[in-house]
This record gives sequence, C-alpha cells and structure tokens, in this order.
Amino acid sequence: MQHRQSIALLLVLLFVLMGASGPVLLSQLTKQQLAGKDVYSKGIGVSEVKITAQMSGVSVPATVMACVNCHNADGSGNPEGGITPSNITWKELTKNYGGQLQNQRKRPAYTERTLRNAISTGMDPAGNELHSAMPRYEMSREDMDNLISYLKVLGNSGEKGVTDETLQIGVALPEKTNSPNDKSESLRQLVNAYIKELNNGGGIYNRKVSVQFFTEASAVDENELFMIVGEGSSDMEKAINQAQIPSLLSHSQKRTTQGFKNPYAFYVYPSWVGQSTSLLQFSKEKGMLSKGTTLTVLYEDIPSKKGVVDELFSHCKKHYGIEPTLIPMGSNDITEISQEIGDKDIVLYLGAPNLGNTLLKQLELNDKHPFILVPGSITGIDLYNVPDSFKNKVFVGFPTWPSERTPDAKKKYETLKAKYVLPNSWKASQWEMLSQLVTAEEILKRTGRNLYQEKVKENFETLFQYANGLSPALSYDLNRRVGSNLMYIIGFDSAKSQIKLITTLNSPEN
Ligand code: HEC
Repeated sequence: MQHRQSIALLLVLLFVLMGASGPVLLSQLTKQQLAGKDVYSKGIGVSEVKITAQMSGVSVPATVMACVNCHNADGSGNPEGGITPSNITWKELTKNYGGQLQNQRKRPAYTERTLRNAISTGMDPAGNELHSAMPRYEMSREDMDNLISYLKVLGNSGEKGVTDETLQIGVALPEKTNSPNDKSESLRQLVNAYIKELNNGGGIYNRKVSVQFFTEASAVDENELFMIVGEGSSDMEKAINQAQIPSLLSHSQKRTTQGFKNPYAFYVYPSWVGQSTSLLQFSKEKGMLSKGTTLTVLYEDIPSKKGVVDELFSHCKKHYGIEPTLIPMGSNDITEISQEIGDKDIVLYLGAPNLGNTLLKQLELNDKHPFILVPGSITGIDLYNVPDSFKNKVFVGFPTWPSERTPDAKKKYETLKAKYVLPNSWKASQWEMLSQLVTAEEILKRTGRNLYQEKVKENFETLFQYANGLSPALSYDLNRRVGSNLMYIIGFDSAKSQIKLITTLNSPEN
C-alpha cells in the first residue's frame, strides 16, 4: 500500500510539473474533442456526476488520477517504477495485428466498444485483466464519448508528413525509361501542374502540398508521407499496409485482399487478375470459351506479370475446368510462339504493348485466327492497326471509358494541359492520375484541418458512389478496397472503321 501511495503521489507531482497541454493544436480540436481532452488531462467531465478512478479498491476523484499522469500528453506512456503504461494513441490501439501488454500478453485490436470496456472495467479485448496500476474509471456516457473522440486524435501531431504549413504526398510512378514519350515523365508533369494549381488556391486547409515522387516500395518507409497516390505494385502494397499510410492506387496486380487484411491500400479499378478474369467471363458469355477450349496466356517474362499469371492459372482451373498454357514472351520468339497457337484457341495477351500487333501479323501469316483478349491497363494492342482478318477477333477490356467524362472534367484537364503545356503522350494515363488526385483532394478536404491518417482511411471507407466526372463512381466500405468494378469491353466496328463499346460487366472483386 505504501508503495502504491508513493507512486500516486509521484504521479500527482508529475502531473503538476508536466502541465496538461497536449501536442495537438487546440485550435484544431472539435468541441467534443476539447471536452474529451479535459477528461484525459484533468479528469474533469461535463456531467454533474464527477468522474472517479478506482485503484486497488480505493475510489478517488479522477482529478488526481488523470490519464495524462501515466500515459503522457501524447499518449505514448510514461514508464515509472517498473510499470509501463501502454501507448494509447489510436494508431497503436487499433493496429490490425493487435498489441502486447507489459506481461507479454497479446491482445487483438481495440474497437470503440472494447476500449470503453477497458477504461471502465479494466478488461482488454482478449478478455484479460489489465495490470492493477491502470485504474478503472466511472464516468457518464457523455464524458466517455468525449474521451474516446479525443483519444482518436491524441498524439496526432506525430502524424507522418504533416506540419502546420505542409502536407507531404507520395506519388508512385512507373520506372523512368529513355523513351522521348516516357510515361513516368508525362505523369510527373501532370501531377506537378495539378499541385501547383492546388497550392495557388491555398492548398488544403492552408497547408501547402508537397510531392515526393518514387518508384521503389522501399521509399514508402523512407519518406515521411501522409498519403500516397499512383501506380503501385504488390511489394508497395505490403509496405503501405506495414507503414499504415492511406493510399489510393490505380489498381493492384494480384486480386486484392479484403479490407481487414489490406487496410490502407485503396484501389480505383479492378486488379490485373480481376481485369483478365472479366475478359474470360465475357468470352464465356459470348460462347467463345467452353470446357474444350485451348486457352493460352502469353505474358511478358517479368516478376510482376509472372505472379498474375500464376493466379490466373488457378482461376481458370477452378472456374472453367481449363488448364491454360502459359507462354513467356521474349522479343525474338514471336514466330515460334505463333506456331504453338491454334486457329480456334483463345489467347489472353499479357505481353509487352509493342509486341501485340507484331504477333497478330505473324498469326495472320500462319493463317491462324484465335480470339485475342487484352486487359487494357496492363498492356495494349492498337485496335486501329490490327490486320483486317483480326478486326472482329480482338477484345480489349478497360476499367474506364471516355464516355464517363463530364464536360467540367474535360475542361479541367484541357485547362491544365494548355496552361502547363503537358505532353501529348500517355493521355489516358494522365486522365487516370488526374482522377486519383481529385479523389485524394476530396478525401483530404473531408478530413478537415485536423488531419490524421486513421481518419483518412475511415473517410475512404465511407465513400459511396463518389463521382468526380473523370472515372466511374467510386464506393468503398470496411471490407471493400476496389472502388469501381466496372469493365468496358471494346472491339472494332469494321463497317464504321472505328472502335466500339461492346458491353460492360462487373469484375467480381472487392
Ligand atoms: C496510474 C497510472 C494510470 C492512469 C492514471 C491511467 N492509466 Fe491507462 N494504463 C496504465 C497502465 C500501467 C497500463 C498497462 C496495463 C497492462 O499492461 O496490463 C494501462 C493501460 C491502458 C489501456 C490499455 C492499452 C492496451 O494496449 O491494452 C488503455 C486503453 C488505457 N490505459 C487508457 C487509459 C485512460 C483513457 C486513462 C484515463 C481515463 C488511463 N488509462 C489512466 C496506467 C494508467
């Protein structure tokens, strides 16, 4: 008892010395959070019934036993006399792989409900008693609500990539090439133009946005980034979830895992695998694909595509009872490859964009005319330049289509393009990037001046049918990470000599 009393005394003393000012700027807090801050740092509520703290069966006013005494003004925990009060920042409490208490006991992530429970009964989400040095609190529902709302922002000045004046956004781009029409360069110019306009207009709640371009997954960790947009990879997805940085990426390579497993990476469009399986679904509906069909998957022999191909193989086996032939492509073996393909086959083309049309010419020479399916975000075939005998045999799937663009959105793009003299190449990719930037800006604005990453993630999860005039409407929820499942299947209209929309379908993916 003597020992405990001395700890308590020490704590009261500490409280007086430290003062109670948190690092979150007061001006940024909502009324409710301010009220919660009083509970946290002074033990004072707004209700008539005073808040009490119970420790070892002794009940004391919370004013002498405020959270801040042990958990610090930033929630980080203040080790004292062999006791380590937990880090109780929201980020720490809700980490999806849970946390560990001082006796090495593991517990799952907190929810609001289990957090209330811990504060009032001392029971963690695993159902275990917290150490007796953590008091049990009695307070009104209202005071508890206020406290929880404050705990959500506690310590958030430590949030990566935000200061009072700036907000750091990472933009993931493809590797730079030596081509005069480099995709990466085209996108970089578009992003710079957009951000310049945004900052000229006051930035986001008076913070200037600064951009960090990167290509490697390792950059996710190395930079102080608040949020990420752009084109990701499987490695990047891993790094993003590890670092807990809310991200809006164009699409995943492999089928996206559900929100609970993949909490921080949000995608605009279906994954490469999802886009490919949509094309297969289309070919089945049109009667091209049936059980006896020979399906060949031609792919560029690079690691990112190899992973996709492996997943496609199991998909075809499971859903169509077909084991596709997988053929990696180099630049010099087009002739050989065309010999392996049959006239009645279906070819899913994941090869390099510059080889598609060459392959078709070679197949025509060999008098073979298989159906060709091409997921358009992964690779390309120039529909205008396919050999005549293939005009009705090539189908390209796109997750977006120009018909979605509103006049306002077109004007926005054209204005940027003219003012900043943006490159003419990779226009479709520029549109996609523009769409991501507009969506990201919207999410950040909805989050408000008081920025924290958890809240950005929550705002994605409540985005419903959000239409920015540039791409299909986006919806996410707790478990959904692909914003739009739509796939546009495009073919060639020989009569009119132009490309045409054949149908749309939904990629079955969340
Ligand atoms: C006298 C010191 C003390 C005070 C005051 C105190 N705590 Fe704690 N708290 C602790 C200790 C020590 C632990 C670690 C318990 C354990 O490891 O079992 C803890 C743990 C917690 C946990 C569990 C964290 C986890 O990872 O499971 C939460 C939540 C918490 N405290 C919230 C609060 C809140 C909110 C207040 C104020 C209303 C408060 N604490 C006041 C000492 C204190």
